[in-house]
This record gives sequence, C-alpha cells and structure tokens, in this order.
Amino acid sequence: MNVHKKPNAPVLDSYWMPFTANRQFKAAPRLLAGAQGMYYTSTDGRQVLDGTAGLWCVNAGHGRRQIAAAVERQLTELDYAPSFQMGHPIAFDFAERLAEIAPGPVGEKLDRVFFTGSGSESVDTALKIALAYQRAIGQGTRTRLIGRERGYHGVGFGGISVGGIVNNRRVFPQLAGSDHLRHTHDLARNAYVKGQPEHGAELADDLERLVALHGAETIAACIVEPVAGSTGVLIPPKGYLDRLRAICDKHGILLIFDEVITGFGRLGDAFAADYFGVTPDIITTAKGLTNGAIPMGAVFTSRKVHDGLMQGPDNAIELFHGYTYSGHPAACAAGIATLDIYRDEGLLTRAKDIEADWHAAMHSLKGLPHVIDIRTIGLIAGIELGSRDGAPGARAYDVFVDCFEKGLMIRVTGDIIAFSPPLIAEKKHIEDIVSILGDALKRAA
Ligand SMILES: Cc1ncc(COP(=O)(O)O)c(C=O)c1O
Repeated sequence: MNVHKKPNAPVLDSYWMPFTANRQFKAAPRLLAGAQGMYYTSTDGRQVLDGTAGLWCVNAGHGRRQIAAAVERQLTELDYAPSFQMGHPIAFDFAERLAEIAPGPVGEKLDRVFFTGSGSESVDTALKIALAYQRAIGQGTRTRLIGRERGYHGVGFGGISVGGIVNNRRVFPQLAGSDHLRHTHDLARNAYVKGQPEHGAELADDLERLVALHGAETIAACIVEPVAGSTGVLIPPKGYLDRLRAICDKHGILLIFDEVITGFGRLGDAFAADYFGVTPDIITTAKGLTNGAIPMGAVFTSRKVHDGLMQGPDNAIELFHGYTYSGHPAACAAGIATLDIYRDEGLLTRAKDIEADWHAAMHSLKGLPHVIDIRTIGLIAGIELGSRDGAPGARAYDVFVDCFEKGLMIRVTGDIIAFSPPLIAEKKHIEDIVSILGDALKRAA
C-alpha cells in the first residue's frame, strides 16, 4: 500500500529500505532531495543541518564539484574496466596516493592496498587476507577470528560473525570459531569524558583469556573498531589498544583495525592508527575514501602481510578474492579528487583545530533531561539517554524525528545519539547542533 499522499511524491512501495522500519517510515517518510556543504534539503524544501556526514562518510561536505567533475571525466574516458588479470592506470594511481598517507612507522607503513566496494566488503576481505596469510606462512591451524561485543563490522557473514550486535546476528548463521572480547563501555567508571577514558585498559586482557581458552595456534586475527561508532560511540580506554597490539604480537595474531568510520580525518589524523599511535597489521576503510560520492572501500595491509602472500609460482593467483568493482575507475577518480580536497583544505587534521570547541559544545548539554552520558573524541560525540521504561530506543528515536523536523540530522542507535559532522563544520554549525538538540531533549517525553 502506498500511503504517501502528497502530489508528485514518489511511490514508496517497491524500494525495500535497508536498516529501516519500512512500514513506519513509509507511513511518515523523511525524504532528502539535495545537499550542499553542511546542509541537506528535504523534499519539502527545508534546510537540514547534517550532523552525521551522511552515514559518517561525507567528510568534506556535500556537493563537491571537484569530485563530480573528476567522476564525469573518468566515465567519459574509461567507464569500466575489469581488474582480474587486467589493469587500468587510475587504480594504481589511487593506490599510490593512499600509500602516501598510510599509517605506520617509516619502513613499516600499511602501504599495500586492496580495493573493495564497501565497508562490509573491506571487512570480509581483511578477514580473508588474514586467514590466507596465516596459511601461507605455515600457520594453517589459525582459523579463528576474534571480534568484540558491540562491534559493528558491516553485514557480510564474516562481519556479522566478528561483530557483536545481537540483532545483526540472531537470525543468521556465523562463521564457526569466531569469538569475542568484552566491550569497553563502562558508564559507572567513565561517564562524561572528553577524549579517552581512564579506566578499562585491562579489558584487552580478554584476548589473553581467549588464547588460554582456544590456543593461540587456532587464532588468525583480532578485529576491533578503534572507536566503535555504530553501537553508540565507544571510545577506547587509555592504553587499551596498545595492550591489544602487544598481546597480538606475543601470540602471532594479526591485529585488524576497522577504520571504516575513523579513517580519513574523523579524529584529527588521517587514521585512528595515527591518532592512537598503534599500528595494526591490516586496516579496513570505505566511506570517507570517496567522500561517500561513489561506493568504494579499501583494505590497507602491511608489507609483511602482503609479501607473505606473494609466494609460489609467478603465474599463481596469490589471493583468490576480488570484486567486479574492485578499483572501479569512477570510484578511483572520486577517491583521488577527495584526497586532493582533503590535502588542499587540510581536512585530515582539521578535527584537531575544532576539537576543543566541539567537546565544549557537546558537553554543555550535560544536565538536560534524560542525558546520562556525553563522550567526545575528534569530531565525534555520543550522547546517551536514559531509556523509557519498557521501550528501549523509543526516546532517542523521537528526538531523532523531532530534530529532523527542526532542521538537524542526527543518528541514533538504541538510546544513544551519535554525531559525526562533516570535517568542514564551523562554530555556527556546532552552535546550531547544540541549540536544536537541546530544545528537542527538553521536549522529549
Ligand atoms: C566500523 C564499520 N565497519 C563496517 C561498516 C560497513 O560498511 P558498509 O555499510 O559500507 O558495508 C560500517 C558501516 O557503518 C562501520 O561503521
């Protein structure tokens, strides 16, 4: 049934929407028609301030002509080319440009790049690379993959297996042998923190416990988001990531950082690995890679991992894996134009410049109705609300709808509001976020 009644409105029946309560949405749709800079325009002509960079992806802001022009040029010149046993220059050029900003100490940078089509594909690619690497170096018993509770690693079978969100897992089978660390969220000890919380580094020792339980020789890799986004902005306690790194090193376990949201400047460095000073073996990215303009992901690996797989006869395919759209020319063009913008406008480090204003503004919401925690890092904020009795998530959802109607896009997960505005945000945008959200919180039941 199409219940959308406005004249000239689209028919909503056929599109089965992702991660959406389809029937509820179609009864009262929120539709976006345009976007420029920090703002969306809704189909009813209202300006909506983008507090979330789309879905954590439009880091350079909307409507970047440079990206559109590069994509148009590329589509006219070479629209598509296969990447299996064939190549096209722009994919190599883009990989070299990414290698230039890859994290890691000199000589150990993660400068080998495998292209995918999304964050989920990047995650499944990284897990497969880890398994293939362990086998290639004679560690074929290492087939177990470790993730973390409240982790989100996309929706592939690999990603949901290491992910730790019950709704993403309960209906679907998972990879045998995957196991999980506990999450690090601890409101009792770490509420209202700017930056990294003090307490919880010892939770990394869960990996030691899993080693003791399963045997190190069965574990291929451990994957975590440096800052978990989708389950409500969980910031790693001081020392936690370093400790995970040390335990992985001790036991021959590869460490994977899922940087699908933290990559490309979200924290004030190109990658969270730079920001936290911890270098994993593999990094997954997507989203900000192309400013969200064209779907694409990229997996960065160390040379150790890459070279470990470059074995056997020269005519052997080293990794039986890849996508029709790996290194798609238009996506590469979008990516290079995006990197140019990041470089020319200093966006990969801009979060550092506005971080103090951002943290102060977000923490000024402390004391408003329902707020039980505010946490901030880089240009990210999580604002946790107390749940309504018997209706978890309902309060934040109401705030989300209210904010949208008043001209602000926020993102909610359960009763946590997450902010990740484009990295071009100015003080006035931050003030508007605080003012619209503050009013919505005061109205919320
Ligand atoms: C950390 C992380 N990994 C993976 C993904 C999945 O990315 P995609 O939706 O592009 O498949 C996401 C998406 O939000 C994410 O936040």
